[in-house]
Amino acid sequence: MAMTQSKTTKTFLNQQVANYGLFYTKLHQFHWYVKGHNFFTLHEKFEALYDQVTLIVDDIAERLLQINGQPYSTLQEFLEHATLKEKPYVKPLSENEMVQTVIDDLETLRDELVEGIALTDKEGDDVTNDMLIATKSKLDKELWFFSSFLGKDPVPQKNAK
Ligand SMILES: [Fe+2]
Repeated sequence: MAMTQSKTTKTFLNQQVANYGLFYTKLHQFHWYVKGHNFFTLHEKFEALYDQVTLIVDDIAERLLQINGQPYSTLQEFLEHATLKEKPYVKPLSENEMVQTVIDDLETLRDELVEGIALTDKEGDDVTNDMLIATKSKLDKELWFFSSFLGKDPVPQKNAK
């Protein structure tokens, strides 16, 4: 199969760099501001997730460089290109609201990975495809963890267009 690694793959990967770059900071907000009976659990859990996100964003950015792309590397670029949204912490959020926000963001990231997996499969870019599948496996597990914390089942993925 011919490997094309089109502009579309590069654009997709770069949007993910922006997303995980933003998510990293957003998780710090929750790590710092969480309050309540589950403080110890969630304070540590948010940290464990931003540590994973650090590895994910680095892998995606370095893959982009390997295929002659140019990863975004400023906070301004992350904000401009991310599909995730952030908010200043001006009004207290409950533990459950924070967890639900993390679930919503993980679902967005997971559904975008489904699209990226289909795209790289179509283009025959096996290495990027493999990396995205490995990332999705991590996010699926996190979605299960955080959904279980709220007593919910994980929301099923949207299928690739
Ligand atoms: Fe800390």
